[in-house]
Amino acid sequence: AALTQDELKKEAAWKAVDYVESGMVLGLGTGSTAAFAVERIGNLLKDGTLKDIVGVPTSVRTYEQAKGLGIPLATLDEQPNIDLAIDGADEVDPNLDVVKGRGGALLREKMVEMASKKFVCIVDETKLVAGLGGSQDAMPVEIVQFCWKYNLQRLQNLPEVSGCEAKLRMDGDKPYVTDNSNYIVDLYFKNPIKDAHAAAKAMEGMEGIVDHGLFLDMVDVCIIAGKGGVEVKER
Ligand code: A5P
Repeated sequence: AALTQDELKKEAAWKAVDYVESGMVLGLGTGSTAAFAVERIGNLLKDGTLKDIVGVPTSVRTYEQAKGLGIPLATLDEQPNIDLAIDGADEVDPNLDVVKGRGGALLREKMVEMASKKFVCIVDETKLVAGLGGSQDAMPVEIVQFCWKYNLQRLQNLPEVSGCEAKLRMDGDKPYVTDNSNYIVDLYFKNPIKDAHAAAKAMEGMEGIVDHGLFLDMVDVCIIAGKGGVEVKER
């Protein structure tokens, strides 16, 4: 029988864990795909295949999972030099630029992955797009709570992301709050973003915008699990 999407995520995750060596400091990603990698790392530590691993989690959720598995953990303050980070993505384009953060963990993910010598991204083939923004689903932007309507409007009117619709992410009837006590505005595009680098730069220049889900020039290796097998793409 064909593999389910979860089985494909697991395949990509396990393949990424092949890059892990004893003694490494690891960035531990967030989301359903990364969770398979964290679980695998925990099990390899338990059975003694891996030793002396330190994990730096990218969210409270991943912290809880890794702690439950007995993986020794540290913060970026304690371990600023990460050997390898493994994390999922929401969209991957042909240059291995990615959108992340639909799970809300974009800021910590970006901090940890920027601090990593190597970033291995793990996805199933449904995440592949011709251009970022192309999935018609959310591109998250983390903003401070202060005057969030003002910044939502500014994002929606930003020429570099023109044509997007901006929506405050909700959690039931309240705004969704990130691990860093900020809000998220999700941008929905009708067409892929024309120039993702220009869009990233424009958002980074806005006061009150903490970070965005465009992870450009960051992925070193992308492992894509599909019905036809697992593909490893290097930048
Ligand atoms: C978390 O904030 C995200 O960046 C995730 O890494 C991304 O949403 C992928 O999640 P899944 O593996 O659950 O699709």
